[in-house]
Amino acid sequence: MKIDIISVVPGLLEGPFSHSIMKRARDKGILEVNIYNLRDYTTYPRAQVDDYQFGGGAGMVMMPEPLARAIDELSATTKFDEIIFLTPDGIRFDQRIANKLSLRENLLMICGHYKGIDQRIRDKYVTMEISIGDYVLSGGELAAAVITDAVGRLLPGVLNDETSALFDSFQDNLLAPPVYTRPAEFQGMAVPEILLSGDPKKIDEWRYEQALQITRLKRPDLLNDDLESA
Ligand code: ADE
Repeated sequence: MKIDIISVVPGLLEGPFSHSIMKRARDKGILEVNIYNLRDYTTYPRAQVDDYQFGGGAGMVMMPEPLARAIDELSATTKFDEIIFLTPDGIRFDQRIANKLSLRENLLMICGHYKGIDQRIRDKYVTMEISIGDYVLSGGELAAAVITDAVGRLLPGVLNDETSALFDSFQDNLLAPPVYTRPAEFQGMAVPEILLSGDPKKIDEWRYEQALQITRLKRPDLLNDDLESA
């Protein structure tokens, strides 16, 4: 899978993909992430990419030409399955969307800044608008990093244990059950007996029950979602 990201602050995106699982995915050639600096696509003096908004009002708007030039140039060599604009007024990102995106081959993400991007870019090029939550970030970069991480870890071969992503929280609309490691007793607290029983069926049942209980307690809305989509 290839994810291209257009940003005015490319430095913000250097860290998240250079460590741990994302780094492994890139090193193995399973995930390619390319970051493009929008300022390389402007013809305005001083690498300008934003301007005042028509009609007045506080905040600058990202101009259409540099974005169009960047998107056109990248699209000349890649057929993008989705052109995604990260914005607080997009659809709310969740595991279901991560799963869907993980089946695509080429994604282009556009990180907004300031007041956003000129509406004509959204109208002409953008195929999906995604928010990572009901709060406003100072730019789309962190959202692009969140989505790339959530999608990248689902690609076959990225996680060591091929099946482990399937048991993540949210994959079946349930939160994950509690997990324990050594020592079996820590500060007087013992690991639940059943996990030491060596009985995989009983352990599975216990985990499922725990997941159900925790979801009921912390996120009952997920169980309702399940009923609604059934
Ligand atoms: N850009 C600014 N805020 C954002 C959010 N919550 N999600 C995605 N992109 C954003």
